[in-house]
Amino acid sequence: MGNTTRNSECSSNPVQGFYRFHAPIYDLTRWMFLFRRKAAVRAMEIEPHHRILEVGCGTGLNFANVATQLDPTRGGKLVGLDFSEAMLARARQRVASSGWRHVSCVQADASKMQLSEQFDRIFFSYSIAMIPDWRAALDRAAEHLDPNGRVVVLEFGRFEHWPLVGGLCRGWLRLNHVDVMQPYVEAMRERFAHVHVEQWLGGYAFVARANN
Ligand SMILES: C[S@@+](CC[C@H](N)C(=O)[O-])C[C@H]1O[C@@H](n2cnc3c(N)ncnc32)[C@H](O)[C@@H]1O
Repeated sequence: MGNTTRNSECSSNPVQGFYRFHAPIYDLTRWMFLFRRKAAVRAMEIEPHHRILEVGCGTGLNFANVATQLDPTRGGKLVGLDFSEAMLARARQRVASSGWRHVSCVQADASKMQLSEQFDRIFFSYSIAMIPDWRAALDRAAEHLDPNGRVVVLEFGRFEHWPLVGGLCRGWLRLNHVDVMQPYVEAMRERFAHVHVEQWLGGYAFVARANN
């Protein structure tokens, strides 16, 4: 397993409490509603030498799709960052059992992260809408991005074209600490020169990719 770093500034908050409870059932349940993972990984256009950061990596459900495209002999590496120790413990188990020496886990708050390196790709997969200070997390991502790098965000949409159940979906997500109504794409446009957005299934989810 790769390096594991802990950030002692991670104090407990409601989302960390939520994931202490959900970590054991996360992998068994999220396949039912967290879609478009492969499309988001494709949007990164990963090259074997890329250094990739997944912000809010959770249990590492995206790790296989990313790690297997990287060549550690050419510098390719994946860092999974999350502030939930319960979720990271499962990510670390996944890394150890898969033998990925080029994948490491870091415990940190995305809105305060200070890593000593830059990345070619920074990936938020169903995490940005759970980060209270998501604007700061985007700022931190911009600071950690290589000048030729790309940020990719996969997130629930606003269910615009779900007239009968859209409000229920938004409400259910809100109860689960997910706020889909914030202007994520607009904030990406404020920070990056080029932003491309692909909506899916009438606003169920979107993949946004951004670069300068
Ligand atoms: C829905 S899970 C997504 C996990 C993974 N990216 C996936 O696609 O399965 C959201 C993750 O974001 C993490 N998270 C939420 N707020 C965070 C923050 N401020 N800093 C770091 N991680 C955070 C949670 O702990 C959780 O693991």
